Amino acid sequence: MDLRQTAALSDSFHKMTFLKELERVAWVVERRLDELLGQGRAPIGGATELAQAMRYAVLGGGKRIRPFLLMESARLFGVSEGEALDAACALECVHCYSLVHDDLPAMDDDAVRRGRPTLHIAFGEATAILAGDALLTLAFEILGDPRLHQDPAIRAELVLDLAKAGGWQGMALGQALDLSAERQGFGQADVATMQALKTGALFRFACEAGAVLGRADASERAALQAYASAFGQAFQLADDLLDAQGDAEAVGKAVAKDAARGKATLVALMGVEAAKTRLGVLLQEAEAALAPFGDRAITLLDTVRFAVNRKR
Ligand code: IPE
Ligand code: IPE
Ligand code: MG
Ligand code: MG
Ligand code: MG
Repeated sequence: MDLRQTAALSDSFHKMTFLKELERVAWVVERRLDELLGQGRAPIGGATELAQAMRYAVLGGGKRIRPFLLMESARLFGVSEGEALDAACALECVHCYSLVHDDLPAMDDDAVRRGRPTLHIAFGEATAILAGDALLTLAFEILGDPRLHQDPAIRAELVLDLAKAGGWQGMALGQALDLSAERQGFGQADVATMQALKTGALFRFACEAGAVLGRADASERAALQAYASAFGQAFQLADDLLDAQGDAEAVGKAVAKDAARGKATLVALMGVEAAKTRLGVLLQEAEAALAPFGDRAITLLDTVRFAVNRKR
């Protein structure tokens, strides 16, 4: 075997190790989410439909990339998996709620998510709206619970940060802009702003929450935020490319929907080839932002590479 073959082999071994780790953490997150969602026990009053719908929306599928980022960011500062797990689950609850509402007929009107019927198809629109509402509030129940962290100041900071990331000046605003873009012309700068909100805000929260739990200093936080911003842009750009070019079965949701609905995306504005070039630039930006952490950030580096090259 020559040097090039050895390097390629070690590269693919490294990639496999990362994918195994992502899978393992996704499993840990899934188990905890199952516990937090009552492990399927009937809730008070026997109103099982809402609880079942919440479990359907959260459990079974999902890459769990946001929880992974949160836990990896926390690990940079010596915070263990167990200490970051509940904050990671709270974030995943907000993400899953955002998907449920994103799929509603009044929004993207999608029938398939994570390879299954979307929540409103399976449970009806009213239950889907309520399940989304309840997942959003569950996130704050988890963050406010004294079991999350012994220091109430840390809990309060996480609550405040997630409220801002998900709310009227964060993800929800981004979703509103995404919908208004279906009706009016958006340029590249408008799309960037919209995507930084609808998708970027939760990624920035993931990294910030890790920094909060790890009591990181201002420069470490700034470096992580620069990484998270590039990550969020790259993640949504990859999603838009999958919509334009991906395989519906592999992606687990309908493709070629953005163009049909007149969504404002960078792929629509600049074309597939330029979008792929942009993805490479964003990957470099994310890598550069991690430089201050050196080898400690190797998994965060792998995570953005995964996000850029993913097929689902
Ligand atoms: C989908 O997010 C919504 C976007 C922001 C593009 P993910 O691709 O993380 O969805 P799941 O959780 O893995 O299903
Ligand atoms: C979703 O963007 C962003 C949020 C849910 C906040 P998309 O509408 O592109 O996500 P998919 O393609 O439906 O997963
Ligand atoms: Mg959408
Ligand atoms: Mg959508
Ligand atoms: Mg999409």
